[in-house]
Amino acid sequence: MDATAATALSQKNLLGIADLSPEEIVLVLDTAEAMKEVGRRAIKKVPTLRGRTVVNLFFEPSTRTRTSFEIAEKRLSADTLNVAIGTSSVVKGETLVDTALNIEAMAPSMIVLRHVSSGACHLLSRICKAAIINAGDGMHEHPTQALLDAFTIRERKGRIGGLKVAIVGDLLHSRVLRSNLLLLSKLGAEPWVCGPATLIPPGLRNLGVRVTTKVDEAVEGADVVMMLRMQLERMQGGYFPSLREYFRTFGMTQERVARAKPDVIIMHPGPINRGVEIASEVVDGPYSVILDQVANGVAVRMAVLYLLAGGADDETVA
Ligand code: CP
Repeated sequence: MDATAATALSQKNLLGIADLSPEEIVLVLDTAEAMKEVGRRAIKKVPTLRGRTVVNLFFEPSTRTRTSFEIAEKRLSADTLNVAIGTSSVVKGETLVDTALNIEAMAPSMIVLRHVSSGACHLLSRICKAAIINAGDGMHEHPTQALLDAFTIRERKGRIGGLKVAIVGDLLHSRVLRSNLLLLSKLGAEPWVCGPATLIPPGLRNLGVRVTTKVDEAVEGADVVMMLRMQLERMQGGYFPSLREYFRTFGMTQERVARAKPDVIIMHPGPINRGVEIASEVVDGPYSVILDQVANGVAVRMAVLYLLAGGADDETVA
């Protein structure tokens, strides 16, 4: 890193990529490299968070984010607790704020929150002493997903700046898109986005992003193709005629991948709708780094937990 490199995060919480400087993003990615090395050891554990309690509070379903946070916390020796919302007093009508205040009363160091409402993490950050980590809030941000995506791109390409990154899919409902666009812009990539006109949020062009409804144009010469899931659970009306029609017009096929650079990488945050936004042969094909993204999620989340806990001179991960 250069002389102006960050050595710590300036904020107590991780609420969004919007709050991170480019130097802080690079610090997380560099720290995640050290954490990935911990994951290659026979004993995949360091004492960094010993004596600290981390609560995973997920109000929406999750496979990748929840499990990788839990593995990350355990590898850092934290005491971890998963609140099962379905058997909690949330089902009796207890609010998010009251739930959080009661958990806070048991003095956790950090709360990892996923919630259906945009802004839920900001709300808790104002009332909790514990550090709040955003694990996805509504259609707003999913910062650790963008960080693990960036880590995977940098690992494969050696850089992020200057790369053409085509992001294709349900742009309207995607918190992954929002966090990725913020991050890619901060690190100097050239993001393109593509989707049906009905699923393009207004104002996207104002972010300096190239916007198109033609998937071939987005993919042409791309270094990275990132597919986004059709978030059917967030759609009330008919945004496109049918899933079959959607796949025909926007789905990522081998023929479309052939338009990208020969060393293109294909990404997807998961969960995948095979045959809707992406063909199975592309998911399982030679350009896919989708499971690398999942693996890197553990290292990146370890880095975030470590840095929010104070980071710095812990020799156990150096
Ligand atoms: N990418 C992602 O957030 O996946 P999960 O919903 O399974 O956590």
